[in-house]
Amino acid sequence: MKPYYLTTAIDYANGSPHLGHAYEKILADVISRTKKVMGQSAHFVTGLDEHGQKVQQGAAKEGIQPQVRCDRIANEFQKMLVTLGIGHDDYIRTTETRHKQVVTALLQDLFERGEIYQAEYSGFYSMRAEQFLQEKDKVDGKWPEIFGEVTEITEKNYFFKLGKYQEWLLQFLEENPNFILPAHRQSQVIEFLKEPLNDLCISRPKDRLSWGIPLPFDQEYVTYVWFDALVNYITAAGYGQEDFTKLWPADLHVIGKDILAPPHAVYWPIMLKACNIDLPKQILAHGWWTSSGEKMSKSTGESISPLELVNDYGADAFRFFVMREMKVGHDAEFSLERFESRYRADLGNDLGNLVSRLLHMCSNYFDSVVPENYEPEQPEIELQEKWKVTHKTSLEFFEEFQFSLGLDQISGFIRAINKYADERVPWKLAKSSDAADQRNLQNCLSNMVEALRLANSLLVAVMPEIHSKINERLGLPPCKSWQADLSWDNRLNGKMIKEKIILFPRK
Ligand code: MSP
Repeated sequence: MKPYYLTTAIDYANGSPHLGHAYEKILADVISRTKKVMGQSAHFVTGLDEHGQKVQQGAAKEGIQPQVRCDRIANEFQKMLVTLGIGHDDYIRTTETRHKQVVTALLQDLFERGEIYQAEYSGFYSMRAEQFLQEKDKVDGKWPEIFGEVTEITEKNYFFKLGKYQEWLLQFLEENPNFILPAHRQSQVIEFLKEPLNDLCISRPKDRLSWGIPLPFDQEYVTYVWFDALVNYITAAGYGQEDFTKLWPADLHVIGKDILAPPHAVYWPIMLKACNIDLPKQILAHGWWTSSGEKMSKSTGESISPLELVNDYGADAFRFFVMREMKVGHDAEFSLERFESRYRADLGNDLGNLVSRLLHMCSNYFDSVVPENYEPEQPEIELQEKWKVTHKTSLEFFEEFQFSLGLDQISGFIRAINKYADERVPWKLAKSSDAADQRNLQNCLSNMVEALRLANSLLVAVMPEIHSKINERLGLPPCKSWQADLSWDNRLNGKMIKEKIILFPRK
């Protein structure tokens, strides 16, 4: 079977990583790990977008070469990936030779086939957004703040025949209603495409911008940064090489909603169509992390950088928080209080306490050998029923990338295990010498161990490190297959487990 090929946006090399970048990489990592544990191999690519005006200006300000600045920033971003426990298979940088070659070949091909043409253009240009603007971009007769200084310029440039594909793209989207997730984003793109689509200016004169990939057919120009950046997805799949189709078409592009339309939902499908390359299967547009309602960025002045929480609380607590807190496709407000509350409640009180008290009881009452289970009675039946529902619904949610809802189900099951213990009160049963109480005690701990093993198996993609620690306590390797590990079979009965562990220390 072809590996599930998934990508993230490649981050701009013009600042340090922040929560927005971290979230997207975690989301893609969780998807990649989920695919693997569901039995499909996955190939996960992320990377850095290194060309363009802002990178050039940033380097000039520092008085260094753009490549030197990019190398430093690449290092920072790659460190972030390690800190977050991201298991990507490839890291692509747009200044790499493999990428420049693909962009150059594509441009040449499109030019030779008349898909790119030269024309003189007069219009308004925004330095900050690196794009030409139109009257319709004005709000209340003024250029919005995001465009910075806007100047009128006339210059010769090269254009890609975007407009010619407008009808085709509309039809494609009508016929493929699941191309963009969530669905309301696809509707927005369709609306966008009801307005006339202009051809895309894909060149920048070198005297204004030299930090880019030169047009192969006119060395006076470099390529527009989006035309360069989007191509990374096929470069990383080995475009031009024999085994390209082993990965391509991509199964999923994970991106933020700000770069859906037009870059990913309009330019990219049209570029591929014009080059006779298959389209990716799906695009997932996530929402924004906000702070006081504003999109978080490197410049939003948080008193504490969310990424610093990883040092204090560990990567997995952070991964759990972002996946639990943000409903895919919607915005989520970041706050330290929310983070601490989830850490204390969902992780510390629910999961952490379950693990420590269960291991402690097994050690105290049974020298850490998991006891036998007996015919289930009402409390056991209820717990096993709860598992059935959790198993089914959380997998369904995971398949739809609804990790927040899936984790909510798992947390609910973990609370049900704790409630089951409160009902069976094994610490009281342990004090009784009555034979029935002893049987109930054995039954209770055996079922709790089994329920914990199952809940923990479902956490492997979101909290791989915590998952491994818990399984290690249970004498098990990390879960590799949900097919193999999600049935309730009390497989640990009679097995030796380990002493208790504190997973989420109080802060
Ligand atoms: N370089 C382009 C992407 C090119 S992809 C061929 C870019 N870079 S970026 O650094 O600005 O953003 C990278 C990703 O981070 C984007 O998907 C963007 O949506 C995401 N985020 C940046 N800030 C964000 C939040 N505050 N919240 C969530 N994600 C946001 O765009």
